[in-house]
Amino acid sequence: MPRRVAILISGSGSNMVSLIKAMAGDPDITPVLVISNRASATGLDRAAELGVPTLTIDHANFANDRLAHEVAIQSALDEHRVDFICLAGFMRILSPGFIKKWPGKILNIHPSLLPKFKGLHTHERALAAGETYHGCSVHVVTASLDDGPILGQARCRIEPEDTPQSLAARVLPLEHKLYPAVLARFIRGDSSPVFLDG
Ligand code: GRF
Repeated sequence: MPRRVAILISGSGSNMVSLIKAMAGDPDITPVLVISNRASATGLDRAAELGVPTLTIDHANFANDRLAHEVAIQSALDEHRVDFICLAGFMRILSPGFIKKWPGKILNIHPSLLPKFKGLHTHERALAAGETYHGCSVHVVTASLDDGPILGQARCRIEPEDTPQSLAARVLPLEHKLYPAVLARFIRGDSSPVFLDG
């Protein structure tokens, strides 16, 4: 039976698209649901075009009740019999209680070479720190932000003329390569890290 994957997004969903396209060529993984926490996420249309069911579970409809929002997400995941969750530009921090229900089953992609630059504005921060290399990481989600075991990294050199925008534009295609490569190994039980040079 193929492993059933849900992808959680908040925005354009370009990583989601690369994951769905890669899964189309892999009989052992199938994308069963895309959930957005924002109705305006343009990725929802892209997922629907690719034939994957979508759901908006907008956190704004739950006032400040994070747990109620997560209960709604959990019941959608249960209903679709999801085995693994891929966070792909999902701009919500999941509570420890939610993560506990999915031990070692949630992956995230982060646009930095972790453990460097956890959190936001990673491209700006890598430039400000004078780094030679920058890139992205896929990791297992744990209760600590951007901190779980690293399953893969892809890196590129920072050039003197780089801006946060140019760097973001170089890192994103690396994300699109790295995430499907890691997921395909991970669902087969291989957690040894993948390293790509861009
Ligand atoms: C990516 O850079 C991802 O690493 C970060 O948010 C961005 C989402 O892009 N967490 P997209 O929605 O996949 O196009």
